[in-house]
Amino acid sequence: MTQLQHPQNTEATGEVSAHAHPEAWKWYHYFTFNVDHKVIGIQYLVTSFLFYLIGGLMAVAMRAELATPDADLLNPDLYNAFLTNHGTIMILM
Ligand code: HEM
Repeated sequence: MTQLQHPQNTEATGEVSAHAHPEAWKWYHYFTFNVDHKVIGIQYLVTSFLFYLIGGLMAVAMRAELATPDADLLNPDLYNAFLTNHGTIMILM
């Protein structure tokens, strides 16, 4: 058994007991590859939320730029970059 598999069976015999209680995941298990669908689900949720915040910050920057007619916060190229990445992040990430 490798470290990344769920420690359902901690017996040296290799038998899986129907009544074995899996050990709780440690915090660092959420920061590496994992085959437990519950851990993967939480990894998805946290990652999506972080990207949602990043995309949201870009929206705020675009809104602030559009508040006045002048390109005073983002220059045109940077505005385009924020628009592209905001749209891509919000839809795909
Ligand atoms: C699910 C997808 C998206 C979500 C949830 C989302 C969300 C938002 C939010 C909350 C704002 C702020 C609006 C405001 O300040 O009035 C915003 C602004 C903006 N978004 Fe998105 N967005 C999404 C997709 C896109 C896409 C695909 C594009 C373009 C390719 C885009 C372009 C813009 C632009 C240009 C602004 C700034 C304009 C403005 O604030 O009036 N967004 N977005």
